[in-house]
Amino acid sequence: LNASAIVPAAGRGERLGPGAPKALRTLGGVPMLVHAVRALCRARSIGRVVVVAPPEEVADVRAMLDADRGVEGADVRVVPGGADRQESVRLGLDAVADDSEIVLVHDAARPLVPIGVIESVVAAVAAGADAVVPVLPVTDTVKRVGPADADGAEPVLDTPDRSVLRAVQTPQGFRRAVLEKAHREAGPGAPITDDAGLVELAGGRVVAVRGHEHAFKVTRPLDLVFAEALLAHRSV
Ligand code: CTP
Ligand code: MG
Repeated sequence: LNASAIVPAAGRGERLGPGAPKALRTLGGVPMLVHAVRALCRARSIGRVVVVAPPEEVADVRAMLDADRGVEGADVRVVPGGADRQESVRLGLDAVADDSEIVLVHDAARPLVPIGVIESVVAAVAAGADAVVPVLPVTDTVKRVGPADADGAEPVLDTPDRSVLRAVQTPQGFRRAVLEKAHREAGPGAPITDDAGLVELAGGRVVAVRGHEHAFKVTRPLDLVFAEALLAHRSV
């Protein structure tokens, strides 16, 4: 297989707080982005990785990937990203390998994704699915709320049945033509936070496979603490 993987890494990481762009913040001394690219390079089905970097960091990202022994020798492209995640992925799509019929999209902010998750997503697309998302059962009860009142309190509207809810991770996998069509038809600024959501919007069918706790997204400061601990635990 010669799948390509797009790694959106152009976000600023506002919820993580002040500092370098999130993808360049380090875990165990290595930028999160490099961890994510290493994992994709280790997956045998991935032939090319397209990193979508903050525009002002493209040269630095190129240099740090060239210098990394876990990445060296792999077909890794670096392209500048856009104003939102959707635009960054669209820009990454233009640099996917011509012969890749399968495209994965994997957040740089999920640096510790196990190789097994990557391979199972590719396998599900190869087996015929148009779009595949790795998911985990939701552990918190989730409520839908309305607009906040003057004191900031939000009225609870209802409580969806938790047993049918799933939290969605990356890598998400796609038949390339399906992902391209979804991005084309959505236009810029769709109120959608993942690529599979765009496919759903375009009427495509998305299936879920089992994700992994290690594929969690580093979003807030506590996630960095957790990621450092997991990395230290993993390398003993
Ligand atoms: N991303 C991107 N281009 C953007 C915005 C986000 O490539 N313009 C990427 C991020 O770098 C990240 C992934 O999309 O790898 C998931 O987004 P998120 O976790 O929301 O990261 P940020 O947008 O950087 O964080 P925040 O929303 O807290 O600012
Ligand atoms: Mg964001």
